[in-house]
Amino acid sequence: MPRVVVFDEFGGPEVMHVVEESAVEPAPGEVRVRIEAFAVNPLDQMMRSGASPAVVPLPHARLGIEGTGVVDALGSGVTGLETGDPVILTAIPDASVRGSYAEYTTVPANRVTGRPAGLGVTEAAAVWVAYSTAYGALVEKAGMRPGDHVLITAASGGVGRAAMQIANQIGAVPIAVTRHTAKKDDLLAAGAAAVIATGHEDVAEAVRRFTGGTGADIVLDAVLGPGLPDLLKAARPEGTLVAVGYLDPRPTPFPVATPLTIYRYRSFQHTLDDVVVKRMAAFLNAGVRLGALRPAIDKVFTLDDVVEAHRHLEKGLHAGKIVVTV
Ligand SMILES: NC(=O)c1ccc[n+]([C@@H]2O[C@H](COP(=O)([O-])OP(=O)(O)OC[C@H]3O[C@@H](n4cnc5c(N)ncnc54)[C@H](OP(=O)(O)O)[C@@H]3O)[C@@H](O)[C@H]2O)c1
Repeated sequence: MPRVVVFDEFGGPEVMHVVEESAVEPAPGEVRVRIEAFAVNPLDQMMRSGASPAVVPLPHARLGIEGTGVVDALGSGVTGLETGDPVILTAIPDASVRGSYAEYTTVPANRVTGRPAGLGVTEAAAVWVAYSTAYGALVEKAGMRPGDHVLITAASGGVGRAAMQIANQIGAVPIAVTRHTAKKDDLLAAGAAAVIATGHEDVAEAVRRFTGGTGADIVLDAVLGPGLPDLLKAARPEGTLVAVGYLDPRPTPFPVATPLTIYRYRSFQHTLDDVVVKRMAAFLNAGVRLGALRPAIDKVFTLDDVVEAHRHLEKGLHAGKIVVTV
């Protein structure tokens, strides 16, 4: 019987357990995917602990917003896919029902796209959420162009590393932000043109120095919290800030008035839009083919160790994506 990770109450990683249940037959327009690997994301932790903004119905909630596998069964009316095709999952808005933490999931056919050629299973499992978010926020939302200076917070994380690679692919200049000076060399090797360690340097001053006094054209912020005013000071007056995440749980002092354009970005804005998904997939495939885009994998677990995978995420010491093979 296929295995699936579920939880019946909110709590720590230990609330997750593996159960056996039949795979769901695909309805018209759906496909069933035999999952080979999935990535662990901060949203999974929020859903599991009861901190997610979206409602998670209990008991028997599933988890997982991304993964990779092969098409296992097709519902009627599905075109352009065959059983056996290697695919990645592009968006699972109802992850508590169709989550990827399982041996099988059944999703609408437009929620899968071909696995980028050149990526192994582990990397393919970890590519979509980070790269679609970074691409959507920087390119579709902020209109990033060659030469733009892009300030990227939480640059050591999945979205941050994707953002640095995408900026480099386009010819923009990524400036990484971390809380730890010890991570500077790693971030330079990962593509940062410069690295700023908060707590050790004044972010606005360091950005102005690096940009010849101009400031960052775009700020990609996955942190929010009390550090936001410093990021606004680091941007040029007509610049753009895109807030994609909220890793810092402390209150965020939003400015009453600012000449900057500020967006909040949720990747579902784009990943549920077939036209943008096509652009995202084309960009991703080209970047992988050219060697410019490749997810950094921090650690790989097995399905039996899914609790350990979440404990590892919660320690916050990872550099890149945490993946579970099925
Ligand atoms: N908008 C969307 O649709 C969307 C999609 C995907 C992700 N997200 C959100 O984006 C954020 C980043 O996701 P991710 O997958 O990149 O996470 P991740 O891989 O877990 O990022 C970890 C990095 O973030 C930094 N960090 C962690 N806690 C921090 C804090 N309190 N203050 C400052 N930096 C902190 C750390 O870097 P240092 O140790 O180097 O400082 C850490 O290495 C999350 O909030 C996630 O929910 C949003």
